[in-house]
Amino acid sequence: MNFEFEAVFVLLNKPTFWRIVSLLRVRLMVGHIPLEDGIGVRVPDPQPILFSKNHAIPLTMKKETVKKIVKDKYKEIATKGTSCCCSCNKAKNISKSIGYSDEELKIVGEANLGLGCGNPLAFGKIKEGDVVLDLGSGAGIDSILAAQRVGSKGKVIGVDMTEEMIDKARENAKKYNITNVEFLLGEIENLPLKDNSVDTVITNCVINLTPDKAKTFNEVYRVLKPGGKIYLSDIVLLEELSKEQRNNKDLLSGCVAGALLKEDYLNKIESAGFKVRILYENKKISKEQYNGIALESLMVELIK
Ligand SMILES: C[S@@+](CC[C@H](N)C(=O)[O-])C[C@H]1O[C@@H](n2cnc3c(N)ncnc32)[C@H](O)[C@@H]1O
Repeated sequence: MNFEFEAVFVLLNKPTFWRIVSLLRVRLMVGHIPLEDGIGVRVPDPQPILFSKNHAIPLTMKKETVKKIVKDKYKEIATKGTSCCCSCNKAKNISKSIGYSDEELKIVGEANLGLGCGNPLAFGKIKEGDVVLDLGSGAGIDSILAAQRVGSKGKVIGVDMTEEMIDKARENAKKYNITNVEFLLGEIENLPLKDNSVDTVITNCVINLTPDKAKTFNEVYRVLKPGGKIYLSDIVLLEELSKEQRNNKDLLSGCVAGALLKEDYLNKIESAGFKVRILYENKKISKEQYNGIALESLMVELIK
């Protein structure tokens, strides 16, 4: 007993021991939970870190700041240039490169702002009479196409947090005489819908923008009927970004800085309870739209 006490005493007097303790403390204090909160948040309490290649670079912005940056950007996009004189062709080319047909683009007209990263309806098995929810519906491109598929017995609900996008989508639906669609102002982390009320969810390049992805997937799970499906296209990272890229406002609103590594993204989906089926991975989009950043557009089917 005495010997053990002496041994501890000797250890406590060794500078090397304290150096090790101090090193360990520093590692514990600066840890970040990998993207637990969507874009990497500083962990308030010291806790062990599991270092992996997917270890997230932290974004020091608060959730509200992220939302404001995103909202301001999409407000600007929704309000600038309603006539679409020169940007229409650009939007058309972008949308064609990510899987929309000429016929679809003719139907949606000005609802296409070239903001997607895939075409969820190209894979989406939507039936006549379905209730479809479009997360982050923008100017209404996918909602309008879904409205055609579900017919007069079905219904499409578009949800977007940017007021100006909702106005634009409503304007477009009116202009193209689409009556089985409604657009609701709201956040996809807190959907203004009842439990088990939706047959199919579609979403195009939106979840990367949300600061709380786990909450979003749980919320979608709540509103989907059992057996209901999500057709989702989104940007995922193939390599971690630098700290500067993670905190770059343009990359944030541009669907890059808030994106998760592919593995993290799929884990988050599975944690919410969904079965995942990867439908398509577009790696070309990196060069075509994102200056070669190591990312891809992922198209998946999720089943509740
Ligand atoms: C990249 S745009 C895509 C719009 C549309 N899906 C398309 O393909 O054209 C992202 C849209 O998501 C909306 N958004 C971003 N975060 C959101 C959130 N947390 N809740 C609701 N809408 C959100 C933005 O306002 C914007 O209209």
